[in-house]
Amino acid sequence: MTPIIRSTITYIEDLFRGNAGGHDAAHSLRVYRNAMRIAEKEPEADQEIVALAALLHDADDHKLFHTENNANTRSFLEENRVPEDMINQICTAINAVSFSRNRGKIPSTLEGKIVQDADRLDALGAIGIARTFAYGGEHGRPLQESVQHFHDKLLLLKDSMNTETGRQLAEQRHTFLESFLRELREEIGDC
Ligand code: NI
Repeated sequence: MTPIIRSTITYIEDLFRGNAGGHDAAHSLRVYRNAMRIAEKEPEADQEIVALAALLHDADDHKLFHTENNANTRSFLEENRVPEDMINQICTAINAVSFSRNRGKIPSTLEGKIVQDADRLDALGAIGIARTFAYGGEHGRPLQESVQHFHDKLLLLKDSMNTETGRQLAEQRHTFLESFLRELREEIGDC
């Protein structure tokens, strides 16, 4: 692990302190791990841009921070003397990831595609189930509503992956999600 990656991990741990729920430092670390796993199979991708974009992808999330123009990401990277054009590439990748900001648009760079896949993987499988119910609980939603979220959003993710590795990993997690929903239906009836 390079010094800049180590500093970035410390930075996001400080930044997200106190933010429980779906978007916290642990989520960013999981997205980073997923992204590196995908990037291993994508020799054309710039590994460092993937790593930093994955770690920082929620550092300017509009639900958590009121920043403009990736201000948290930019000032952190500038302080750490990351070159300007690399900062721009990292921000391009980050800005392509967000579901709400980029509805339906495919990221224009390979690094953006990898980080988007990595972020989507964290919404699938056992971790996706855990996060959905944690978020639902935090917002006082009935269980049924969280289950609806699987159908409306999470079960659609596997068909929108960008990379081959992302697709394979999503497939496994999707299958797990489906078997969880089958078991739930079995136990509590129609949902
Ligand atoms: Ni995220």
